[in-house]
Amino acid sequence: MQAHEPVRKSAGKPSAPKNVVNLLDALRRSIGNDNEKPVAKPKANAKKCVGRSGRNVDADRWLRQSESRIKGHQSGQSRGERRVSARPELRRPEKVPPCNLLEGPMAKQKTLQDLFVDTLKDIYFAEKKILAALPKMAKAAQSPRLKAAFTKHHGETENQVDRLEQVFKSIDETAKGKKCAAILGILEEGTEIMDEYKGMPALDAGLLAAAQAVEHYEISRYGTLATWADELGHRDAARLLKATLNEEEKTDLALTQLATGEVNKHAEVQEAA
Ligand SMILES: [Fe+2]
Repeated sequence: MQAHEPVRKSAGKPSAPKNVVNLLDALRRSIGNDNEKPVAKPKANAKKCVGRSGRNVDADRWLRQSESRIKGHQSGQSRGERRVSARPELRRPEKVPPCNLLEGPMAKQKTLQDLFVDTLKDIYFAEKKILAALPKMAKAAQSPRLKAAFTKHHGETENQVDRLEQVFKSIDETAKGKKCAAILGILEEGTEIMDEYKGMPALDAGLLAAAQAVEHYEISRYGTLATWADELGHRDAARLLKATLNEEEKTDLALTQLATGEVNKHAEVQEAA
């Protein structure tokens, strides 16, 4: 008895023998197949569209589309991916994120009045810090005249704080400070002078210069505030601010006279000795 050959199982879909496939193809060609879609054939009488170059325009379009598909495939771009046109006018508008109600176009428009109030808060904060620093500077100063100048200005600064509170009241605002980084930096420099020049001949010259830096900052602020108060029609505020501005300018002048008349020379003499 002849042994049966083992049945070989194909891992995939069983395929028909080649000669059977050829036969089926021949049959399809001879009788046609209703399930297959007829291939569109160009009409014999269709009008040819020929471009300027003499080439068939439809062929050109087909070529361009094919090239585009190949490029998209090569770049890994799938059909669903968005293509960005090189021409800005053809691009889709970007999605605009929802606007922040506080910072977006609907935010309150700040005016000169807002700036005026903010700057008042800035100088109010500064005056309070100066008020705390002046006694330390008076204590550190070696020259009796410089000590007296700092002490005198401490009293003036108390009045200046009072005036600022009157200014806030005159415009129906609450007296409130706003952190001023500038005055903190200037006062920090004064503290460094006191530490680094303690007991040195140049200490008073350094302290006086630090005090003048404070005065110049205040003159700048009060000058601006007085001008804005005039612009905004705040008459009482303008009068009070100009009074303080005048006081600050006189203090600055007094410090300059003290520096050139005594303090700087004292530092030079000590240095030469
Ligand atoms: Fe002041």
